[in-house]
Amino acid sequence: MISVLFVCLGNICRSPMAEAIFRDLAAKKGLEGKIKTDSAGIGGWHIGNPPHEGTQEILQREGISFEGMLARQVSEQDLADFDYIIAMDAENIGSLRSMAGFKNTSHIKRLLDYVEDSDLADVPDPYYTGNFEEVCQLIKSGCEHLLASIQKEKQL
Ligand code: 4NP
Repeated sequence: MISVLFVCLGNICRSPMAEAIFRDLAAKKGLEGKIKTDSAGIGGWHIGNPPHEGTQEILQREGISFEGMLARQVSEQDLADFDYIIAMDAENIGSLRSMAGFKNTSHIKRLLDYVEDSDLADVPDPYYTGNFEEVCQLIKSGCEHLLASIQKEKQL
């Protein structure tokens, strides 16, 4: 089983959206038994909370389930357990790298780095911008490219 963990700051806006969209994409390609998808936040402020209303609205519109998804905080163990740690922005990457200390960080990547022609490198935080639609488009594109890259790398 290949495992993918999406990480953002609070685990209520961007990373749960990415988790749900990526899981749906993988299922549509018949890969649900081959890829495990999860998400977590750098901070612990929203532990146990469902996705933000804005993320819920987007996922409902897209017809993608977020049932049972509750925020949790990323742990050092996650860095060892997951094959791919996919962060939303440079700040998340910095936090994850400092959490890893001297351990291997080559599996810690930024989502939009998979989109070669992307205008943006970071997925903007809709908790502050309010623009969940922009985030949805960026995450969709990032997840499609990420899945294609994993399929190629792991020959799925
Ligand atoms: P997210 O957005 O990282 O996309 O889940 C945020 C959610 C909550 C906070 C910051 C960002 N917060 O500071 O509570």
